[in-house]
Amino acid sequence: MFNDEINKIKKELEIAFNDIDTKEKLDILKQEYMGKNGSITELNSKIKIIPNEEKKSFGMAVNELKAIFNENYERISKSLEEKLINEKLNKDAIDVSLPGVHIEIGSAHPIERIIESLENLLMSMGYDVVEGPEVEKDLYNFELLNLPKGHPARDAQDTFYLKGDEYLLRSQTSPVQVREMLRCKGVEPIRIICPGKTYRRDEDDATHSHQFTQMEGLLVDENITLGDLKGTFEAVAKMLFGEARKTRFRPSFYPFTEPSVEMDISCFNCNGKGCNICKGTGWITVGGAGMVNPIVLKNCGYDPDKWNGFAFGFGIERLAMLKYGINDIRTFYVNHDIRTLKEFDRREY
Ligand code: DAH
Repeated sequence: MFNDEINKIKKELEIAFNDIDTKEKLDILKQEYMGKNGSITELNSKIKIIPNEEKKSFGMAVNELKAIFNENYERISKSLEEKLINEKLNKDAIDVSLPGVHIEIGSAHPIERIIESLENLLMSMGYDVVEGPEVEKDLYNFELLNLPKGHPARDAQDTFYLKGDEYLLRSQTSPVQVREMLRCKGVEPIRIICPGKTYRRDEDDATHSHQFTQMEGLLVDENITLGDLKGTFEAVAKMLFGEARKTRFRPSFYPFTEPSVEMDISCFNCNGKGCNICKGTGWITVGGAGMVNPIVLKNCGYDPDKWNGFAFGFGIERLAMLKYGINDIRTFYVNHDIRTLKEFDRREY
């Protein structure tokens, strides 16, 4: 007796499912047929009034109806989901063959390159990189380095003093030596390099700048010799200027080292024969150095009977000018054109 109704619902479903194109419509349909008051649910509840002998076939028919509904529901629900994913994929699709947006990347400044290559080499030899302040105490920049007030060697470093004479713009990176020795309180060996900006009251010209860059080195330990300094310098010279470089020390004077030397390399341009770069001598001076003066060790809390060591100082601009063939120091500060800097990318460090 319910066959008509069952068939009617079957037909309805066939049409209804064909019409579904959104998840919302699908959910409404589910509510209409399988919800609390849905047609199939209601049909199902009529089993109570079905005569016993028909209950079984009625039950089977309703179950078949439910199965038809569920199958269609699953099928359409899945295809709607796929449709949604495909739409999203199509919308977000990118053309990987399109040329990218060109972003100009920076390029390391030659001063930075020299510092970095020195750091890499010396760190591999056990040195730590330490920095100090550019506004420094006279005490550290001069006094404890054995340059007391009135010492003639102070004149060579025409200094910017700040209000009074206690503070100054450091004229060298050597005060970082003092700071490190004081920090280590006379009990620890030291191996440091200190790159940084330095200042002197120089008129700017092709070889002078009121602000420039130095790298200081300090090694304090026991039984250190000038030979250790020579070996260290040789490694630096070859790294910067090629394996063929020869090195030599010339006697010199610095108040903070005793003995003091100038560090020379054989000319990389003429290999020692004499040219305009080495001014005919075959040698080029690239830095100052020496054995740490016992007075300085003592000033900074190290017992000179137990400890000794060496120190060195490089002018970074000078190294960069030599290495890159630049003949005006001002090039480093005024010309920040990325195209100029890029030139250095093509060269070796
Ligand atoms: N501070 C010196 C200068 O600016 C360079 C220097 C020479 C540093 C000898 C040193 C050294 O550590 O031992 O002229």
